[in-house]
Amino acid sequence: MDLAILKQTAAALLARNKGILAADESAKTCAKRFEAAGMPCTKENRRLYRQLLFTTPQIEKYLSGVILFDETIRQKSDEGISFPQVLSRRGIIPGIKVDAGAKDLALHQEEKVTEGLDGLRERLAEYKTFGTKFAKWRAVITIGQNIPTNACIHANAHALARYAALCQEADILPIVEPEVLIDGDHSIERSYEVTRATLEATFSELAKQDVAYEGVILKSSMVLPGKNSNQRKTSEEIGEATVKCLKESVPENIAGVMFLSGGQTDEQATANLNAINKAGGAPWRLTFSFSRAIQNPALKFWAQKNEELARKAYVFRVRTNSLASEGKYDES
Ligand code: 13P
Repeated sequence: MDLAILKQTAAALLARNKGILAADESAKTCAKRFEAAGMPCTKENRRLYRQLLFTTPQIEKYLSGVILFDETIRQKSDEGISFPQVLSRRGIIPGIKVDAGAKDLALHQEEKVTEGLDGLRERLAEYKTFGTKFAKWRAVITIGQNIPTNACIHANAHALARYAALCQEADILPIVEPEVLIDGDHSIERSYEVTRATLEATFSELAKQDVAYEGVILKSSMVLPGKNSNQRKTSEEIGEATVKCLKESVPENIAGVMFLSGGQTDEQATANLNAINKAGGAPWRLTFSFSRAIQNPALKFWAQKNEELARKAYVFRVRTNSLASEGKYDES
């Protein structure tokens, strides 16, 4: 492990005014989103859509990195240039999702554990040959009656730590993503409690596996009331709860923090990221690594074959999230 390389990658990803586009949807997730937009989810359509995302002018001002899926890293632009190269040439760092998805956790109904450790060392070595400098692994924690269990939190934390160790061994910066889902009718207080327990367990496991915190980026969910909860919270309240929770459970010396949008509306995700940055007092840069809250309008217009509007809407979403990452977003 060369910590200097990891720190360099982290610093570039966490550059001011910038964040990450998550374009690492599996073919299955893509199918759901394409079909909802009325577009058949063929391999070629996925290539064409990703080509639009990677070639739109101006995005390099707002994006430091893009997370790719295994299929995409092997695909090329119409000019025959590999997608990781298309991005690198624009100064955008290509990354790769390396987990194999969340599977049912044995003996624990309704809970998931993320798989994908088998053969990961060899896969990372191959991804490096494509110019990949960082990776992502997503764990999923569901809030419900009597869940999450300690078994679920610890199984996921342990897998995240083993993944992070393998990445660091290969000089690939690990993005560690324990997502506490928005699904459910839980309160913001319950979200706070579960997020805190999840983050504490995750960093405790990372330490046990001797993962260097300085070479880790946390990708976190925000502390929010459940999607079906009656509780209404302002962005300021969400921003404060999120920063407080992270300050209590995340080591000060990790490289930085990025947030997922997690099924919030585009505007909510941006307003909440802005409020998180305005809350102040966090020792890390707090930026975005959104999929849906960047791509939603672009996918809709692209599926309607309006490429110009798709590009415009996409640049608008990355630009507003860039402003939010500095606490300078204004809804008007
Ligand atoms: P969303 O922003 O759509 O939650 O996706 C982010 C992500 O990468 C989930 O793993």
